[in-house]
Amino acid sequence: MARVYNWQIGREMSYWYPESRPKRQFAAVFDLNKCIACQTCTLACKTTWTSGRGQEAMFWNNVETKPYGFYPLGWDVKILQMLGKGVWRNGVYEGLTVFEAVGRGERVLGFRPEEADYAYPNIGEDECAGEVEKGVYLSGIHDVWMFYLPRICNHCTYPACLAACPRGAIYKRQEDGIVLIDQKRCRGYQECVKACPYKKTFFNPVTGTSEKCIACFPKIELGMQPQCFENCIGKIRLQGFISTPKEAREDNPIDYLVHILKVALPLYPQFGLEPNVYYIPPIHVPFSFLEMMFGPSAKEAVERYQAERKDEDGRLRGLLALFGCTPRTVERFKIAGGEAIAMNEKGEELVRVPVKEPVFIRPGFDPASGVARLNTP
Ligand code: SF4
Ligand code: SF4
Ligand code: F3S
Repeated sequence: MARVYNWQIGREMSYWYPESRPKRQFAAVFDLNKCIACQTCTLACKTTWTSGRGQEAMFWNNVETKPYGFYPLGWDVKILQMLGKGVWRNGVYEGLTVFEAVGRGERVLGFRPEEADYAYPNIGEDECAGEVEKGVYLSGIHDVWMFYLPRICNHCTYPACLAACPRGAIYKRQEDGIVLIDQKRCRGYQECVKACPYKKTFFNPVTGTSEKCIACFPKIELGMQPQCFENCIGKIRLQGFISTPKEAREDNPIDYLVHILKVALPLYPQFGLEPNVYYIPPIHVPFSFLEMMFGPSAKEAVERYQAERKDEDGRLRGLLALFGCTPRTVERFKIAGGEAIAMNEKGEELVRVPVKEPVFIRPGFDPASGVARLNTP
């Protein structure tokens, strides 16, 4: 095992291979306050990449309802239980990562889900078990709350799937940090399925190989955002490239949200993979739950997000307005004259939107046509 630095846990850790960061790292921010679980992202991916034989139960993008939804069943609670309680002190994770909590001869701590665990990707979500009387609500051991969690492969800096594969069939591209499975080398050992704590590699029983999200690399190479981003109805997603904390740029949208404003956080940083999909946590969920899921700075992230969003000319508000507004990858941005402007790497303008959305109130009756309007204001 090599010693590598993981900035998300604030310390060095053990990893199977020495540290090797790509020239650029694919990254994304998802604003969980805007996800409506319409599953358009799921279907955009499914129809593009996983509509073949053996891929029936495979969702490279899925959206689950937290705290009770999972795909596959129990994916996060099982690995959290196996890892045990880990403590954070001053931004440093003092527990063990999945690379450190291993037994002799093992590369990564993990488990392989049962086939049935993939069978009901959204069981329990938005379902009524019968007629519900007006005013009735569920009450249990905690206050009633829920939120939707969309998930893709995190194209991790320290991929557990890659570390675990005895065939060396998984690689991380130097040009963009995307993690791929070489279908010619893969022999279906499924160590990657067992190792990925996010359960984002999937075994295909027809081809006998494993497959995973490819970050829509043919689109990335053309400067386009992936399918699940471009088709997102809620406009919750922005794809770009992330720098290391020391090299963070104020005009890089991902750097700005993750490193500078610090409102977007990694999912389960304690696993130790340095995942590259970042989440703006939901504002209505108990902080204890958010801290378990997104690390110790979840409370500050929510408070900063709420404060900055109120600033009507602010950078955060402007940047959030650019989410889902262009199919191109947004590598730079600026706010000028009440508008948010998205740019490519060369600084060429891709799109501009008003920071404050204009509101037009129309009268309920249209005298010119002599009709009442139904969709006012
Ligand atoms: Fe590999 Fe899982 Fe990380 Fe994706 S999320 S790179 S499949 S370890
Ligand atoms: Fe699917 Fe592309 Fe989204 Fe990955 S990035 S989940 S391959 S649509
Ligand atoms: Fe390796 Fe996973 Fe294939 S462990 S051999 S990439 S199934």
